[in-house]
Amino acid sequence: MWKGRFQTETSNLVQRYGESVSFDWRLYPYDIQGSIAHATALEAAGILTKADLRAIKRGLQEIHAEIESGQFKFRVSLEDVHMNIEAALTEKIGPAGAKLHTARSRNDQVALDARLYCRAEVQAIHRRLLALMEALLICAENHADAVIPGYTHLQRGQPVLFAHHLLAYLEMLDRDRDRLRDCHRRINVMPLGSGALAGSTIVLDRKLVADQLGFAAISQNSMDAVSDRDFVAELLFVLALVGTHLSRLSEDVILWASAEFGFIELSDAHTTGSSLMPQKKNPDVAELTRGKTGRLYGNLLSLLTTLKGLPMTYNRDMQEDKEPLFDSIDTVKLALEVFAEMMAVARVRPDRAREAASDPFLLATDLADYLVVEGVPFRTAHEIVGKLTAYCLETGKDFPNLTDEEWRAHSEAFDPVAVRKVLKLENALKARKGTGAPAPANVTRQIGRWWRHIKNPPAL
Ligand code: ARG
Repeated sequence: MWKGRFQTETSNLVQRYGESVSFDWRLYPYDIQGSIAHATALEAAGILTKADLRAIKRGLQEIHAEIESGQFKFRVSLEDVHMNIEAALTEKIGPAGAKLHTARSRNDQVALDARLYCRAEVQAIHRRLLALMEALLICAENHADAVIPGYTHLQRGQPVLFAHHLLAYLEMLDRDRDRLRDCHRRINVMPLGSGALAGSTIVLDRKLVADQLGFAAISQNSMDAVSDRDFVAELLFVLALVGTHLSRLSEDVILWASAEFGFIELSDAHTTGSSLMPQKKNPDVAELTRGKTGRLYGNLLSLLTTLKGLPMTYNRDMQEDKEPLFDSIDTVKLALEVFAEMMAVARVRPDRAREAASDPFLLATDLADYLVVEGVPFRTAHEIVGKLTAYCLETGKDFPNLTDEEWRAHSEAFDPVAVRKVLKLENALKARKGTGAPAPANVTRQIGRWWRHIKNPPAL
C-alpha cells in the first residue's frame, strides 16, 4: 500500500508482529458498510463516476459474501482487515477500486469500524440484559411465597422474600442497561472525513455518510476523532460492572446451591458432575462467571494503560484496543445468555428456605421496634432485646417459647400476647411496607413494575 517510498519489503517478523487481521477480520461487515457509504459521498463529490460506484458496491458485496461463506483468504501480508478488503476489491474491479481510499485514512476508517461494531454489540448486549432480567423475574414469580433470611456480613439478619432478593439484581442490571444506553450516545458519532488527522483537501458530504450509516452526529474535531477511544474504555467499564453484578449473583447462587444453605436446586442441564465423587452436582456456570469477571477487569485496565501515554493523534499502540474489546463483548454476551437460561429454571427448595427464615432471632429487630412503639427509646430497647437474646442462648430457649413471666422480667413494656403476634414471620414481613421494603404486597407491585419495564424498555 505504501510501496512508493520504500525500496525493500517489510520484514517477515515485522509483518507477524504488526498484523491485526488475525483478529480484526471480524470487523468486515462494518468495514464494507463504511466503504459503501464513503464511496457514495465520493460519487456525490464527483470523484467517482456512477459506474465506479456501481462497481465498488458490487465488488464489496461479493467480498462480503465470500467472507461469509469462508472462501475469502485473509492475508497477513496485508496487515489488517481494511487493506485486505481494499486489495481484494482492486483485484476484482480494477482502477475503480484504487479510487476508494480517496480522502480517507485507515485512521478514520478504523475509528468508524470500531464505532459501528460497538454500536451493534451494545444493542446485542442490551437485549441480553433484558432477557436475563426477564429470567430472574420468572424465577421470582415462580417462587413468590418463598422466604429466606436476608444477610449482612453473611450472618442471618432479617427475613425477606426470595423474590425481593432477586429483584435487587434487576435493579443492578437495569442500571447496567441504562449505562449502555448512555454509552451508546457517545459511540453513535461519525468520525469519517477526519482523514489521517487533519481532514482532507477533498471535501466530502459527511452528513450524507452519517445518514447512510444511521449516525446521530458527526465528530467536530478531526484530531480527536482519530485518537478517541473513550467510547471503547466506557464500554469496557460497563461490561466490567456487568461482570461484577453477575459475579455477585454467581456467589449467591453458589452459596444457595450448597448443602449448607440448600435454598435452590439448579437444573441438571446447568450443572456438572465430578469425575471422581459420584454424588457431586457443581454450579460451574456460576463459578466460571465469577472467574471470567477477572478477565473483564483486566481488559478495561489493559486499554486504559494503552491509552494513557499517547500523544495526539493516532498511534499504532491503539491497535491494541481490539482484543480486549472483542474478548469482553464475547464473554459478557455468553455469560448473560447462560445465566438467563439457568435462572429461569432454577428451583427454590421452599422447606429449606422457610426453615432458615424461621430462625426466631431474625425477628430481634422487630421486638426492639415493638418496644419503641410502646415508648421505650431505641437504644434501651436494643439493649433489652440483646439481653433477651443472651438469655435464650444460655437457657437453650427461643423467643416463641418464653413464658409470660420471662417476657415481663425483661421489660414491663412486653405484652406477651402482642409480642407473640410480632414474632409471626408473616406479620414481620407484612409490617415492612415502606417503599422499597419487602412486604409481600410491595414485592408483587415491584414484579408488575418490572414486567411493564421489560416489555417496554427505553430505546437505545
Ligand atoms: N490496524 C490498525 C488499527 O487497528 C488500523 C489503523 C492503522 N493506521 C496506521 N496509520 N497504521 O489501529
